[in-house]
Amino acid sequence: MPVLAAEGLAKSYGTRHALVDASIEVNSGEFVAVLGASGSGKTTLFRCLTRLAEPDAGSVTLCGQSFTGLQGRPLADARRQIGVVFQQFNLVRRLSAIDNVLAGRLAGVPLWRVMSRQFDHDDERIAVEALVAVGLADHIDQRADTLSGGQQQRVAIARAIAQNSRIILADEPVASLDPETAEQILALLHGLTRSRGMAVLTTLHQPHLAEKFSDRALHMEAGRFVGNRH
Ligand SMILES: Nc1ncnc2c1ncn2[C@@H]1O[C@H](COP(=O)(O)OP(=O)(O)OP(=O)(O)O)[C@@H](O)[C@H]1O
Ligand SMILES: [Mg+2]
Repeated sequence: MPVLAAEGLAKSYGTRHALVDASIEVNSGEFVAVLGASGSGKTTLFRCLTRLAEPDAGSVTLCGQSFTGLQGRPLADARRQIGVVFQQFNLVRRLSAIDNVLAGRLAGVPLWRVMSRQFDHDDERIAVEALVAVGLADHIDQRADTLSGGQQQRVAIARAIAQNSRIILADEPVASLDPETAEQILALLHGLTRSRGMAVLTTLHQPHLAEKFSDRALHMEAGRFVGNRH
């Protein structure tokens, strides 16, 4: 059973058809890359998959359950199965690296409990482990808005990892990283597919990275998937 499946997703902004007819399946343990020119609809696809944008048409199924019609609490609960790394990171700027990671892991727990440190030791250990895994052992308590772009990117990735979701959706996760760190991060995400059976769906701009790390690469053009899949 696919962890995430979408059928016929469409999304327009006014007269602009950002997503036309996009269908995709990602299985547990699979690393799938989405390639495509700027403006081809990759971020729009991810926003529709997570229902941060409401698709105009199409359906999304998460772990065998319909995700399309959910609202309120059931939507929030289902969303916890998806770890998201946003293209613009979306960190809480005034919080430290570890508090950002904890806030992601403890989604649903009020932020004041994170800030007043009312959570389990286990949560803290998992958050620290995720930050260490992305190479930020020396920046755990540093405020997010004082971290470099690449470091913020890695906090966002650690936040998704610590959430321990069934799937990670990562939008350009290595765009602001140097080539060596980029490969380390992709190797880390790839490792999660193998060690935890997690599914990873990621957009990438570099075909050679898709070739090296993904099980399949899909190509988007003008709001739909085109061409061969491997
Ligand atoms: N909120 C919005 N309002 C209007 N147009 C939008 C909106 N979001 C996206 N678009 C348009 O939809 C198209 C697809 O955008 P999208 O962000 O999905 O592209 P992308 O493939 O992620 O590009 P990039 O590689 O630059 O991140 C673009 O033409 C964009 O201008
Ligand atoms: Mg984008």
